[in-house]
Amino acid sequence: MKFPTSRRRFLELTTAVTGALAGCKRTGAQEDEGPRIIGQPLSKYGERSVFEKSARSLPTTKILENGSSLTPLQDSYGIITPSALHYERHHAGVPAINPAEHRLLIHGLVERPLIFTMDEIRRLPSISRIYFLECSGNSRDGWGAKPAPSVQLSHGMVSCSEWTGVPLSLLLSEAGVRPAAKWILAEGADACKMQRSIPLEKAMNDILLAYGQNGEALRPEQGYPLRLLIPGWEGNASVKWLRRVKLIEEPYMVRDETSKYTDLMPDGTARQFTFVMDAKSVVTFPSAGQKLPGPGFYEITGLAWTGRGRIERVEISTDSGANWQRTELQEPRFSLAFTRFRFPWRWDGHEAVIASRATDETGYVQPSKDELIAARGVSSDYHYNGIRPWKLMANGRVTNV
Ligand code: CO
Repeated sequence: MKFPTSRRRFLELTTAVTGALAGCKRTGAQEDEGPRIIGQPLSKYGERSVFEKSARSLPTTKILENGSSLTPLQDSYGIITPSALHYERHHAGVPAINPAEHRLLIHGLVERPLIFTMDEIRRLPSISRIYFLECSGNSRDGWGAKPAPSVQLSHGMVSCSEWTGVPLSLLLSEAGVRPAAKWILAEGADACKMQRSIPLEKAMNDILLAYGQNGEALRPEQGYPLRLLIPGWEGNASVKWLRRVKLIEEPYMVRDETSKYTDLMPDGTARQFTFVMDAKSVVTFPSAGQKLPGPGFYEITGLAWTGRGRIERVEISTDSGANWQRTELQEPRFSLAFTRFRFPWRWDGHEAVIASRATDETGYVQPSKDELIAARGVSSDYHYNGIRPWKLMANGRVTNV
């Protein structure tokens, strides 16, 4: 195993872990304990252990067809979000679509309007990529004075999957894009016919027509049988249940790019087409709502991501931002994907304020809350990416700050 911290740190860590585990009992009694009972039979589709309870959190409203469910980031390992725990954002419920009947229309400013069946799309050369997906409203509680009581409720509208599909550019080239086309309009097959305008340049670059997620077909709530996956851009633009791509000259100014998903500035103007998700990180352990049993060794860990490529560095502060130390980043680090950071730490039992700060490969540094508000005011509901502190109290409880 490659251990990137210094040898001195490693020796300190070994001492810490040995100390922490000294209380564990060593006994041979377990070897011959109890009767042997035949276990469960084979099954066609696996389920997790009945002892595992981690779940998406649902809104408290009665209407669950229009809203968000949030990923339990505090329980996550590594960089992949299980499909069953990927956050959801629906505007008109999850449509039940038979892939045998689903069609994708490509039309507008093209030489040859085309209609594809799912079988035809799956016959084309495919690629698989690991990408995060984040709602631009994620961690929006940061704008206000009352932060959410857990990392799930503050940051749970981001997830990361391996997506499989066909580059959209392949189908657009097949249809023959006319020179006048500068944007595309993507439309879903849900009841609200979710629409977004997207610059053609991005569509010809790395947008994926995804039908696979984490090794199997997309989950219905993730757009089955076909969705757009726009790497690094706000999740709303990655239209699910994709039924139509129209080549157009200018954006259509649909609801979700005018009255929604724009960012109101202090002077009353609005930022529009703010697609790219800026670098963000958050500590998932220890995080608000958790409790540490007592002083001793802990691995501080969390996730970082950026819509501008790879995460270059994540630092941890355990003293309210006075000092910052580099963390170990899980390799390989994929572009536009979650990066897991880890930091060995010995808690002395005193109150501590813990936070992470990400820097991406462009040199962009995740801002503090004050820096972000100085630049953008507090009228925006979207694109909050400020540093998120958690307070560890002397009794071991962790709260928001
Ligand atoms: Co935006």
